Amino acid sequence: MGKLDCELVYLTENGEQVGSLLLVYEGGCASVFSLEVLAPYRGKGHGKKLMLHAIEHCRNRGIPSIELNTEKDNAAANRLYGSLGFDLVGEKFGFNNYVLKIHS
Ligand SMILES: CC(C)(COP(=O)(O)OP(=O)(O)OC[C@H]1O[C@@H](n2cnc3c(N)ncnc32)[C@H](O)[C@@H]1OP(=O)(O)O)[C@@H](O)C(=O)NCCC(=O)NCCS
Repeated sequence: MGKLDCELVYLTENGEQVGSLLLVYEGGCASVFSLEVLAPYRGKGHGKKLMLHAIEHCRNRGIPSIELNTEKDNAAANRLYGSLGFDLVGEKFGFNNYVLKIHS
């Protein structure tokens, strides 16, 4: 049985958890899984805040790149990742594959 090196990043508002993402570390790089902001809290910058925190956290850990996948028809997610500087590096089974190179 293997052990997963991962961290949950979450955001609270008035004590309530309103969004989170999972950072998984493997082979010296990081992947983002399960980014989600609760529906009533979307469109207020929380998703961007979570991602910026994850990027900064990876930069501080010396991680050179972050990878993630999102459905091609997920307009909000695709726009978010593009605006954060992620490069679209591949497409498979209806998903876009993005990579962000982190410069220290
Ligand atoms: C994707 C998601 C996390 C974005 O979170 P959010 O808090 O609503 O996003 P933000 O308010 O931080 O917006 C950040 C950027 O996302 C994009 N965006 C957000 N909502 C959007 C929408 N409805 N349509 C198009 N672009 C959108 C914009 O580029 C926005 O930047 P801008 O405000 O400078 O234009 C959220 O919509 C969500 O939880 N969706 C359901 C789960 C999901 O699809 N997760 C991604 C799986 S890979």
